[in-house]
Amino acid sequence: MRNTRSAANGVLGGRAAVVTGAARGIGAAIALAFAAEGARLCLLDRAEGDGLSETAARCAEFGVDVSTVKADVSLEDEVDAAIAKASENLGAIDILVNNAAILTNCRVADMPATVFDETVAVDLRSVFLCCRAVLPSMTSAGYGRIINIASQLGLRGGPGLAHYSAAKAGVIGFTKSLAREVAEDGITVNCIAPGPIDTPIAGDLSAEHLEATRLSLPLRRIGLPAEVAPTAVLLASEPGGNLYTGQTLGPNSGDVMP
Ligand SMILES: NC(=O)c1ccc[n+]([C@@H]2O[C@H](COP(=O)([O-])OP(=O)(O)OC[C@H]3O[C@@H](n4cnc5c(N)ncnc54)[C@H](O)[C@@H]3O)[C@@H](O)[C@H]2O)c1
Repeated sequence: MRNTRSAANGVLGGRAAVVTGAARGIGAAIALAFAAEGARLCLLDRAEGDGLSETAARCAEFGVDVSTVKADVSLEDEVDAAIAKASENLGAIDILVNNAAILTNCRVADMPATVFDETVAVDLRSVFLCCRAVLPSMTSAGYGRIINIASQLGLRGGPGLAHYSAAKAGVIGFTKSLAREVAEDGITVNCIAPGPIDTPIAGDLSAEHLEATRLSLPLRRIGLPAEVAPTAVLLASEPGGNLYTGQTLGPNSGDVMP
């Protein structure tokens, strides 16, 4: 059944957005929140299976145009081809959300270099590749909103997470530099650094670990993806997002207070 709420007058009405890692979790929630606010969407993921088309179908219920493209965001050729395809579908891309990432748990002393390299490739190199691919059209349009999903672990670190924390700290540093590079082209670049959020990414963590994490948070709550998505809407919207660039916003249950 078509969603009865009209998205046509939403704060992102008519804007064109690419969201990576949109098959599930926070990426799917951001895609839905963008659709509810009227954005036209191209959703990207590498996942086999139904997640991506399910997210697309739920977004389409808001009456917006939605397409999907499969790509591995760590691979240069796949990213360039995916952004070209997204541009064919959407025209100029106004908003890019770099959300796709992987997380594994491994202590540095035991970590194969391949695990470190893969994490940095998927979680950090991908942000560079996707940003580079959209910048020419954003620059010529004189408008763009880039939102990079980092993590509070990029600010505070965590045992067994040096590779992930390093990649996410890299995303925050990359964001600040790119924000300074492209500010005069009308493009803003920001990070969202969520705290613990209930998604499949932490699938191999035990219930005891998750409960200990929950109790360590000032708000005593693991968040939901739908509680992160509104921060992305804010950064993508006008006038709400206009004055943010190079910033890191933290929907994190109080875990980090920079
Ligand atoms: N869940 C949390 O607690 C949490 C906390 C802080 C930050 N984050 C960040 O939020 C973002 C979303 O995480 P999530 O929890 O929704 O994770 P998730 O595992 O539920 O979703 C990640 C999505 O990215 C896709 N993906 C992974 N590697 C890819 C690749 N190489 N190419 C294309 N797509 C790929 C997956 O298929 C999946 O659909 C990530 O950047 C993550 O680091 C999550």
